[in-house]
Amino acid sequence: MNIVTRQPLESAAAVEEDELWFKDAIIYQLHVKTFADSNNDGIGDFAGLTEKLDYLSDLGVTTLWLLPFYPSPGRDDGYDISDYRLVNPDFGAMKDFRRFMQEAKRRKLRVVIELVINHTSDRHPWFERARRSKPGSDARSWYVWSDNDQKYAGTRIIFSDTEKSNWTWDPVAEAYYWHRFFAHQPDLNYDNPRVTAALLSVMRFWLDLGVDGFRLDAIPYLCEREGTSNENLPETHAVIKKIRAELDAYSPGKVLLAEANQWPEDVAVYFGRGDECHMAYHFPLMPRIYMAIAQEDRFPITDILRQTPDIPDNCQWAMFLRNHDELTLEMVTDAERDYLWSAYATDPRARLNLGIRRRLAPLMDNDRRKIELMNSLLMSFPGTPIIYYGDEIGMGDNIYLGDRNGVRTPMQWTPDRNGGFSRCDPARLYAPTIMDPVYGYEAVNVEAQSRSLASLLSWTKRLISVRKSSRVFGRGSLSFIRATNRAVLVYVRQYGDEVMLCVANLSRSAQAAEIDLSPWRGRVPLELLGRTNFPPIGEQPAVITLAPYGFYWFQLCETVASPPIQASLPEYETLVVGHGWRSLLQGRSRSVLERDVVPVYLSGRRWFAERGNSAITCRVADDFAVDTAADSGIVLVEARSKRESAQYLLPLSIKWTRLDSAKPDPNALAGVRRGARQGILVDGAGDPPFIAFLLQRVRASETIAVDRHRLEFRATEAFPAETPIAVEHVRAVETEQSNTTALVGSAFVVKFFRRLESGSNPEIEVGRFLTTIVQFPNTPPLLGAVEFVDGDTRRAVAVVHRFVENQGDAWTVTSAYLDRFVEEQRLLTAEAAEHSDEEAAYARLMDQVGRRVAELQLALASRDDIAAFAPEAITSDDIRGWREASSSAPTRPSMSSCAAGRA
Ligand code: NOJ
Ligand code: CA
Repeated sequence: MNIVTRQPLESAAAVEEDELWFKDAIIYQLHVKTFADSNNDGIGDFAGLTEKLDYLSDLGVTTLWLLPFYPSPGRDDGYDISDYRLVNPDFGAMKDFRRFMQEAKRRKLRVVIELVINHTSDRHPWFERARRSKPGSDARSWYVWSDNDQKYAGTRIIFSDTEKSNWTWDPVAEAYYWHRFFAHQPDLNYDNPRVTAALLSVMRFWLDLGVDGFRLDAIPYLCEREGTSNENLPETHAVIKKIRAELDAYSPGKVLLAEANQWPEDVAVYFGRGDECHMAYHFPLMPRIYMAIAQEDRFPITDILRQTPDIPDNCQWAMFLRNHDELTLEMVTDAERDYLWSAYATDPRARLNLGIRRRLAPLMDNDRRKIELMNSLLMSFPGTPIIYYGDEIGMGDNIYLGDRNGVRTPMQWTPDRNGGFSRCDPARLYAPTIMDPVYGYEAVNVEAQSRSLASLLSWTKRLISVRKSSRVFGRGSLSFIRATNRAVLVYVRQYGDEVMLCVANLSRSAQAAEIDLSPWRGRVPLELLGRTNFPPIGEQPAVITLAPYGFYWFQLCETVASPPIQASLPEYETLVVGHGWRSLLQGRSRSVLERDVVPVYLSGRRWFAERGNSAITCRVADDFAVDTAADSGIVLVEARSKRESAQYLLPLSIKWTRLDSAKPDPNALAGVRRGARQGILVDGAGDPPFIAFLLQRVRASETIAVDRHRLEFRATEAFPAETPIAVEHVRAVETEQSNTTALVGSAFVVKFFRRLESGSNPEIEVGRFLTTIVQFPNTPPLLGAVEFVDGDTRRAVAVVHRFVENQGDAWTVTSAYLDRFVEEQRLLTAEAAEHSDEEAAYARLMDQVGRRVAELQLALASRDDIAAFAPEAITSDDIRGWREASSSAPTRPSMSSCAAGRA
């Protein structure tokens, strides 16, 4: 097992618990413009978004991340800000923002906004002022200027499709200005402390309005130094530390989310020592999830996660599958990028810069199983998940729109005009809605999906609620288990005692994997989406089978959580009984009974010699209707296996009550149906009416004859002639191994012999002798017997004794005595222990037992006129036989030598 462990838990507790709220958050990312248009001008606005807050809180997300909503020329969708302290009038006024905040708070939704600190729009008054100010003046140095465009030559170009240089000539300033993104986005100069101070003031402004955090856009690029790549410079980190210190001092509990599209080791630096950003996107992981699915191989994921450094306890990765930009492939190798382009962007229009401008559903070929699998990874990898608006309903994209606008189309609410986003003329919309037959708003919309429990929207809600049910996802450590099958990704999340086992099939075909779960032996896996228990973890590796793109989240429970393991409900056959009990034994019902019902039933019985073996063939050899009106009878079953053939007795009764699969009757063999009437076929040995019939027939000493065979019910004189036979209270004797014994109230003990043996039955023979011939008073009187007679052979079917009130058997009494005796000896002093009351009482009891056994022997030896009971002298052959038997018995050596010595 390969372990990548993070987040030592104890020290995390040192941080104010509530301040780590972002670790348990589910973030929903949206642009106000794209969500809902309240005034029908074709552009989404804060009032519209406020109306949709119930939708968002119902979805289960806990935090909203709003893309830039400030005044802007809109040439980079708002990331080109011209005023940091206002709301873009297209989206509403400040009062609309305030109301939105109020309503979000009322629903306990947190709000994270954008702090775009690297650059402004070239229309920002700061830039207008700078370009007109003298070179070297303070106002001028709010931005980065140069006389030539060769400075910082080692710096890459990010928007490679549109920009040829990071420098642009400004005719007003008569100098080049520095920009890492579009030419209309001049970079601010963080070597000027006034710039930092101004941005801190912007931050406080929005904190005063109640926001819960900031996404720090493009933060690797804040500072520039000749001879470097101008990314991730120590000076840049110093600025971020200042921002963090100010945030903590001004408004504790608020968060910073770093947008640093860098390799893991470089991103991790943005956490500092817990004194820079609280969260940072895991940019390198994201494309590797797509890679793993395309290659049907877990390696890209496990490899990058193993390369991911540990981060401070008070920090968290931000996980995402898609966002408002192209799916960036900057953090993969050239070969990997080519592979991903060929797998996911065959149409060159789908490519942009170093990425792919498509949404999740089209990337997954709209394959619901793949979309679900991707979301399961998003929600269970170590970090806080971010859902891009519309992905919860599987929205599509439009690669014919310029730049990244194809993934920023209006949210699809209904099948109505403009997808319910706006009631304006479609031509007026800020961007056309998706209208194709697969992803168009008529096919994909919130209204339709809200009506179906099987929709992607409903499924996503369920996944979110499961994720929220445990802190392990947001806070736990991660370790991988290397199953032999590389198409299967197995990882364990652990937080305190809580263990979550996640298993994902990354391939398009069904897969099986052997998983070593020995560290959690004895725990019971509870599958969280369906809440079903799986078999407990044992010694052997678990074999897990997965459907194509299937996944499981198992909570490994120490004790069986509710709901309990579902005892597998037997799938009963239904036997058709046309006219009377006998029709059970005719035609198709008989063959089903013999082939399917009886073998399964017998193999599950304790008294069946070959229990557990259902590979037996059964035949009903004889049958006797005990009470035709009440549908009861006895069948004699011949059961054959490879090893032996034996005859078993099976009393069968039909009960006309419906099979209750929630409370299965332990004595049921099958369902029965007569017309529309349903009932159950039960084993009569535990069935009160059946026992009542049997006792009545014994009392009447009846015979039921079928052909040459008969069932003889015979009473002894001891059977109480007048007592009514009440059988309401029938209990099974649980300790019985090879027969079935029922206690009937406090009157009778009825024992059924299951396996029929020929020859006289000692219980009947000795019982008759003691009860009727010598009338021995100290054994339970035999009241009657049932025998199956075939020509001259008799085989015992059942015996009936009188119930004798008792204190249990000698075994139970003795072991209870020994417990008490040992306890008494432990507690008493040596002298007191010598006079044990326990021992004295037990000795009296044993004295009595000994006396009774001797009386019994005398009674048995009292009639030499009856051949079977006439006493016989012990011969030396007898003694030799006993001696041989005892010395060959598998006893311990000391015991056998002792026995041999005595003999
Ligand atoms: C990152 C943002 O995500 C992207 O949309 C924007 O174009 C660049 N930063 C420049 O601001
Ligand atoms: Ca509007």
